[in-house]
Amino acid sequence: PVVGVSMPHESAHLHVTGTALYTDDLVYRTKNVLHAHPVQVMKAHGRITALRTEPALAVPGVVRVLTGADVPGVNDAGMKHDEPLFPDEVMFYGHAVAWVLAETLEAARLGAAAVEVELDELPSLVTLQEAIAADSFHGARPVMLSGDVDAGFADSVHVFTGEFQFSDQEHFYLETHAALAHVDEAEQVFVQSSTQHPSETQEIVAHVLGLHSHEVTVQCLRMGGGFGGKEMQPHGFAAIAALGAKLTGRPVRLRLNRTQDLTMSGKRHGFHAKWKIGFDADGRIQALDATLTADGGWSLDLSEPVVARALCHIDNTYWIPHARIAGRIARTNKVSNTAFRGFGGPQGMLVIEDIMGRCAPLLGLDPMELRERNFYRQGQSTPYGQPVVRPERISAVWQQVQDNAGVADRKREIDAFNAAHPNTKRALAVTGLKFGISFNLTAFNQGGALVLIYKDGSVLINHGGTEMGQGLHTKMLQVAATTLGIPLHKVRLAPTRTDKVPNTSATAASAGADLNGAAVKNACEQLRERLLQVAATQLGSHASDVRIVEGVARTLGSDKELAWDDLVRTAYFQRVQLSAAGFYRTEGLHWDAKTFHGSPFKYFAHGAAAAEVEVDGFTGAYRIRRVDIVHDVGDSLSPMIDIGQVEGGFVQGAGWLTLEDMRWDASDGPNRGRLLTQAASTYKLPSFSEMPEEFNVTLLENATEEGAVYGSKAVGEPPLMLAFSVREALRQAASAFGPGGVSVELASPATPEAVYWAIQAARQGD
Ligand code: MTE
Ligand code: MOS
Repeated sequence: PVVGVSMPHESAHLHVTGTALYTDDLVYRTKNVLHAHPVQVMKAHGRITALRTEPALAVPGVVRVLTGADVPGVNDAGMKHDEPLFPDEVMFYGHAVAWVLAETLEAARLGAAAVEVELDELPSLVTLQEAIAADSFHGARPVMLSGDVDAGFADSVHVFTGEFQFSDQEHFYLETHAALAHVDEAEQVFVQSSTQHPSETQEIVAHVLGLHSHEVTVQCLRMGGGFGGKEMQPHGFAAIAALGAKLTGRPVRLRLNRTQDLTMSGKRHGFHAKWKIGFDADGRIQALDATLTADGGWSLDLSEPVVARALCHIDNTYWIPHARIAGRIARTNKVSNTAFRGFGGPQGMLVIEDIMGRCAPLLGLDPMELRERNFYRQGQSTPYGQPVVRPERISAVWQQVQDNAGVADRKREIDAFNAAHPNTKRALAVTGLKFGISFNLTAFNQGGALVLIYKDGSVLINHGGTEMGQGLHTKMLQVAATTLGIPLHKVRLAPTRTDKVPNTSATAASAGADLNGAAVKNACEQLRERLLQVAATQLGSHASDVRIVEGVARTLGSDKELAWDDLVRTAYFQRVQLSAAGFYRTEGLHWDAKTFHGSPFKYFAHGAAAAEVEVDGFTGAYRIRRVDIVHDVGDSLSPMIDIGQVEGGFVQGAGWLTLEDMRWDASDGPNRGRLLTQAASTYKLPSFSEMPEEFNVTLLENATEEGAVYGSKAVGEPPLMLAFSVREALRQAASAFGPGGVSVELASPATPEAVYWAIQAARQGD
């Protein structure tokens, strides 16, 4: 069988030889292209009083300047109708208020610089604190309640309170936002877009142009990374390109340079959390009362579902019998924050893992012991009411990672090392995870596919998911080949297009393979049924006795064989339909967004990581000496792809928690609201030098997930949250510089500077 076999990413050879095509590469194959450049206003907040475009038109090469007056449909780029494509009010530093189209990118740039914008400046809110103080919130303010919180605190022996603010994170996909649009003879708009959500890009382009969806086709070849940043944010850029194409009759290309992308597109939400937690005498959580405030930026975008997922993940692997968790979205004068790998889940889980790390010393417990005591057990439910049906998976990965990593022995070695080294300390921390798979909104949990078999026996599959490097297409090829019973080379995959599979969901929530894989399988099963009938007649047997394996049909009790290509040709001449549309919807889900209760997830993904760090007491600098991970992907569809996802997710999480320090100008100076870290020179991403020196990833074995495609589980986002182990190891190492048993507060990201201050506090024993 092809499913479950390790194979390289289907485009790996193209990626590494530089021949894989991305949206903007198509520009060089397109004639007569116009280039789009934004007119960005460099103030955090203000009302536009004048916008003069004539000076731009005087620049040689400039063809047209797009403004709000050009929009034939709705001047809005978001699903919440709070995101004017051409705003009257500048809402963040770098907001684009017009776009210049020109023969060259340079002419467009000069044209944009020539546009004159006058502004009535308005007061701005740049930090979460400012927004909270000003009571500036937007969108839903959910409260998740379970049990009786007051009674829970009354029963608690230990009650602690705290606050925690942690940073946002830039996606830093290698390919920045890009779109290329043209209009054909029939006035059909065709947009190539680097988008995780082609159907929604199509919808927004249609709104803006005042067209129906059937007049707009969106195609996504592949993305050079999305990470959630291309779930909702590409729509406006695609709409600008499409509008330009519609108005000029020429293809329009829009590609942001890195600084434009950094200053114009949304990021992972930074959060503020205020919490109170109660434990019984044995360190078991009794009650949690927490308010999470997300920095939503200027418009809602995906902030509501991100906050919902944060609330639904604050429990992580721990049973919290009595909970009151509130969520709110601060409205600030910053880019509109959006989805980012984990979609609020990491933020919710970071809060509880931080609480565990801070409270363990206060309870006199080893952090691992505290975590383990609070793991879900059979019969317990999450604060939103979903039973955790297989809690034994939590302890399975937890135990196995300790065995693989030799945790007990290494802890003894570390104690000895620390006793002998006053200025260097090591620590080893283990953290686990539980991550719900499915979209909270039940309707999104559907997938579609279109599978075509040609007369020569070759197979072409289309499905609703997009490829961003995560290996979805590779898995879909494996699923199709397995279901049809043919070798992998017989199957090819077509780029994702809205005119092949309609009304798709975003490739997000890690559900790409679950939803589209089941749809591809469904289409292939329909085709297989038809072909088995044909084969049965040819082989003189019953369809139920025929098997197609490795491209050959055979039947019970006969040596007769029928090769796949012959079978397909025979079917064609018998006028058997050789194409099929597949569909899948996840059953058994329900979610009530009002009461914040239900069973929104099909299942939970699990994993555990053991990380060892070494910290220098003079500078706070540190190394990650070793990381061991055991991760549960069910029966892996494609083990090498899954291991790559685990490694990549973990490193991206470690970047968020330790290195990536996004800074905004919150001063009252002229650049208030400016993103200060707007290039790779000031925004530190993980690279080879920050990789764990030893890095062992194991997939949990015999982990079949009933009811998911070929027993597999989603993998894309959960491993990011394994990086909590690094942060907790840093906290413990900082604590080791002190008298012992000190509760250490650690900023996030835990940069060397932040670790240094944590060490200083630990030394003072406070
Ligand atoms: N892996 C790579 N290489 N590039 C990406 O952009 N995005 C992540 C994850 N892994 C991403 C990635 C995110 S945010 C999600 S939701 C999933 O992939 C989406 O794909 P899937 O549903 O097929 O797992
Ligand atoms: Mo992933 S954040 O759901 O695109």
